[in-house]
Amino acid sequence: MARRAAEYRAAGRRIIDLTLGEPDFAPPAHAVLAAQEAAARPLGYAPANGIPELRQAARHALERDRALSYTDAEVAVGCGAKQVIFNALFATLGPGDEVIIPAPYWASYPDMVRLCGAVPVIVPCSAESGFRITPDTLEAAMTERTRWVLLNAPGNPSGATYSHDSLTGLAEVLRRHPSAMILSDEIYAHIRYGEGEYISIAQVAPDLHERILLVDGVSKAYAMTGWRVGWGVGPAELVRRITAVQTQNCTQTATVSQIAAVAALEGPQELLAQRCATYRQRRDAALAILQQSRHLDTLEPDGAFYLLPRLAKGDDLTAANSLLEAGCATVPGSAFGAPGHLRLSFATDIASLEEGCRIIVATLDGIPA
Ligand SMILES: Cc1ncc(COP(=O)(O)O)c(C=O)c1O
Repeated sequence: MARRAAEYRAAGRRIIDLTLGEPDFAPPAHAVLAAQEAAARPLGYAPANGIPELRQAARHALERDRALSYTDAEVAVGCGAKQVIFNALFATLGPGDEVIIPAPYWASYPDMVRLCGAVPVIVPCSAESGFRITPDTLEAAMTERTRWVLLNAPGNPSGATYSHDSLTGLAEVLRRHPSAMILSDEIYAHIRYGEGEYISIAQVAPDLHERILLVDGVSKAYAMTGWRVGWGVGPAELVRRITAVQTQNCTQTATVSQIAAVAALEGPQELLAQRCATYRQRRDAALAILQQSRHLDTLEPDGAFYLLPRLAKGDDLTAANSLLEAGCATVPGSAFGAPGHLRLSFATDIASLEEGCRIIVATLDGIPA
């Protein structure tokens, strides 16, 4: 849809683009400066699991933000969270292995699992459950072939987060299935609207330490998607295998990007809260418009920068096509295992966002914008 929106624009049409899955902010100035300085120095190959300074900065950030301790051998750096996730799956999956993916899900998960020759097991999570997997639905999906359970909170595209209690319930199920690993994708952990600290399953279930790979990166929190830096922390043996895969595909993520990521992690952190406040304003402005529609039911997301309204009638692909014709690009929920929904990104300026939401409401409700 983003590509089609760009084509329409190139043809001279005015299109509000609510498809984007990346922050519209600039990277922190101190990260850019660190990269500029580093780029002037000779930078050769660096370790496949990341420069030591970045592994340390990632560990310190987890200690600071989530009170979690890891050793240096438990950190693997890759070209974004995406590559770390792929490497982990590739390093561990074989034919017939199953990976549990709660839906709605980030569109890449099922394809990555299939690329590894394994089977994605999609577990639908209803709007009524806040788009969260429950202990019962998790238990029902587990088999002796389950190798991984993928958790993502705040979720893309739902924005759902898990409370301490809900993670405790999931951990109880996971304890009964010791051969399954848990991948906790926490790339949106810094973009949250609720009170209190972010809670990771790694904090709630320290006894599962040897089975949890926690994934994070600089893409969303620090608006550094194009710099391609992410990391995974987990058991040293898994990290060793992730690093073995990394070594034989792209060697390492760019050293200059890693140096910028160190600066982002270790520099002033105030911008995280400031940006969250901006996202919250946008979320509320968009919700105020969308909730006027008779044809949409929109939950308030706890985190990330997406809204996932449910269509009262009709299919999401047809709706997204009509909306594009009307001047607003959205993504059909089917791409995320959420048919009958649309994903709208609010990582865009508030005026465009409001205009886009008004087009959506007017088009779906059949009234002039
Ligand atoms: C849930 C989720 N995980 C991971 C990623 C990828 O992050 P990175 O840019 O660090 O590869 C994204 C990007 O859209 C995402 O939405």
